[in-house]
Amino acid sequence: MRLRPALALLAVSVAALASACGDGTDLSKGPGYKIGEAPTPPNEDVRDQAPSEALPNPLAGFPRGSQQLAVVCGRGRNDGVSRGLCANPSIGSIVDLQGAVGLRFADRSARGRNGANGNPAFAMLAHSSSLIAHDVSALNPRAIVFTSANGTPQQTPGFVAMGFARGETFVELVAHDRTTNKLTFYLVVFEPSCGEDCTVGDMVTPAVEKGWKSWSLYDDEDLKNTILDCRHCHEPKAGGPRFLRMQELQDPWTHWMRNDRPGGVALFLDFLRAHSDTEDYAGIPAPILQDADGRALEDLVVGNGFDEQPNMFDSRTIENEVRASAPAQPADNTVPGRSRTWEALYERAVRGEVIPPPYHDVKVTDPDKLRFAQDAYADFKAGRIPASAVPDIRKIFLDAALPGMSLRPKEGATGREVLTHMCQQCHHPGLDQSISRARFDVTKLDSMDRATKDRAIARMLLPPSDIGHMPPRIMRAIPPEALARAVEALR
Ligand code: HEC
Ligand code: HEC
Repeated sequence: MRLRPALALLAVSVAALASACGDGTDLSKGPGYKIGEAPTPPNEDVRDQAPSEALPNPLAGFPRGSQQLAVVCGRGRNDGVSRGLCANPSIGSIVDLQGAVGLRFADRSARGRNGANGNPAFAMLAHSSSLIAHDVSALNPRAIVFTSANGTPQQTPGFVAMGFARGETFVELVAHDRTTNKLTFYLVVFEPSCGEDCTVGDMVTPAVEKGWKSWSLYDDEDLKNTILDCRHCHEPKAGGPRFLRMQELQDPWTHWMRNDRPGGVALFLDFLRAHSDTEDYAGIPAPILQDADGRALEDLVVGNGFDEQPNMFDSRTIENEVRASAPAQPADNTVPGRSRTWEALYERAVRGEVIPPPYHDVKVTDPDKLRFAQDAYADFKAGRIPASAVPDIRKIFLDAALPGMSLRPKEGATGREVLTHMCQQCHHPGLDQSISRARFDVTKLDSMDRATKDRAIARMLLPPSDIGHMPPRIMRAIPPEALARAVEALR
């Protein structure tokens, strides 16, 4: 890390933080609902129900456990993940998993450091454009833990990086094989301690990080034609280069939490108001969590040669434009910002050329929903409500931001635009043509045969709870009027 006053800004109590927020919040006032009543989220978001009931298992029918391990390990790779997991170690928590793949926090005390003293490096993201975008906000961030580049953008052969946000029963990994120079993407799917009947609260609190009953390892080959495919983002052109992703690669790393950037501070405050400064998150020890740093991931990404990011999000310019149009940003996002630089990035995603850029504003949260979820979470932490009463703290996005986040189609899009914006990312001619989904290529609507178009219509009209529903529920959803236009465009 470059030297900076670690922890100085935020190592304070939550009460002090609330006043630092300047919003006069007094946490002792209690929740925005009656204790004893199960709080209901103020309104619905990307998913309508709890994850355990809403989404069918995309890997149902796949082998699991040691049988599946033999499949992955039979591919004979020698990177940090295969080396660490092929011996079938006993793994019951995210901390165990970090230990097994060489990402153990050796010093969990306040003296520990981000990427030093034997610790791996780490960064925390409050708005993701990845597979798990719908899970991620300042309240439920995506943590990335990875091999330290020792504070400079240098090559780290054999590196491993792990991505995790609460709410999913999987951990994403990538590993570099120093002999073959190849990147492999892995997914560790775990069976949480709550087993088959998890409440949302079991999934979005520390409980999800431990007590795992079993785990299974998959790699990007296993996943290539599932809705958990890694390649459409990390290797968008089949056979082309594979790369690490970081759209906001440069200072001030807009949606990455950092305790000395205006955006990063605003996000940290939203996080800490609920979680306090005593809670480990994604295996990262609480005493050093506030040392999270997008800069550390920049070092890994750039140091290993991935500085060419498609459709790069120019953090500085976009933040400046947003602030010029809406001066209360980033702390207060009631008035959305505008950025012409961002609009150009967004239009490319709408045209289906690139994966969606992150949203233009620092916060993606609705202030009321955020407050509600923060209060409920703080109540859970204080023992005032049980985990089973914790609402879905991920359903806090600002409705008006959903199209900008590409979780919904662009406002007013034509049927065809809905299809390119919502489908092309996974259905384009650069795909591996041997997989079945290559048959539906959104760039060829004009020459597409009737049967394929009908299959696409049928997929979009399947109930969202059906595994065949398109677009995959884990990624995004199309509201009724836009859906009608998309169907019309295919008829
Ligand atoms: C929809 C696009 C998308 C898909 C699909 C996707 N990723 Fe990513 N991934 C990203 C983006 C974008 C980032 C950068 C951080 C962010 O926005 O969350 C990222 C970051 C990562 C990182 C941190 C290192 C880095 O590249 O910055 C890991 C590890 C990772 N992804 C693993 C996976 C695995 C494993 C899969 C498949 C199971 C997968 N990803 C699928 C878009 C994607
Ligand atoms: C996140 C990636 C992703 C997105 C976005 C996506 N799909 Fe898919 N699609 C898949 C995968 C994976 C499959 C293969 C598995 C399957 O058949 O369910 C698939 C299969 C299909 C198939 C079956 C193709 C065949 O002939 O077997 C159709 C049709 C389809 N998708 C239509 C759509 C439409 C329409 C959209 C947009 C409204 C869309 N998809 C968006 C990942 C995606």
